[in-house]
Amino acid sequence: MKIAIASDHGGVNIREEIKSLLDELGMEYADFGCECEGSVDYPDYALPVAEKVAKGEFDRGILICGTGIGMSIAANKVRGIRCALVHDLFSAKATRQHNDSNILAMGERVIGPGLAREIAKVWLTTEYEAGRHENRVGKIKAYEQQQ
Ligand code: RB5
Repeated sequence: MKIAIASDHGGVNIREEIKSLLDELGMEYADFGCECEGSVDYPDYALPVAEKVAKGEFDRGILICGTGIGMSIAANKVRGIRCALVHDLFSAKATRQHNDSNILAMGERVIGPGLAREIAKVWLTTEYEAGRHENRVGKIKAYEQQQ
């Protein structure tokens, strides 16, 4: 599985933590920034990652900002993206099983690096259940096709 990862200036520490997790799990990844000393704009990082996942260049994406909210709002504007903002382990598992989320967003001003690492591990290793959820996710895909 190939992962695209990025953060704004508010998510640099968790981004480094998740990269060390990806190394530990032996998962291939590419880091799309930021190379930030100062303040940057989260859409400049969320949208390229979301587009790469939507195009199939990467299987999944992980985005971190201060709250995770800006990254998730921006990523979900890209057709084919189901970005889940997650700050607990239950949701990390559920959003993979039920929503087949393809991008994980987290906020570094909300949770610490230890919990972020566990959330990412669960999210990366949990399979989509399909079944009854396929109809629901299918309705989102059908709506996107009409836009
Ligand atoms: C940056 O200050 C902050 O707004 C950003 O990291 C994020 O929390 C936005 O949703």
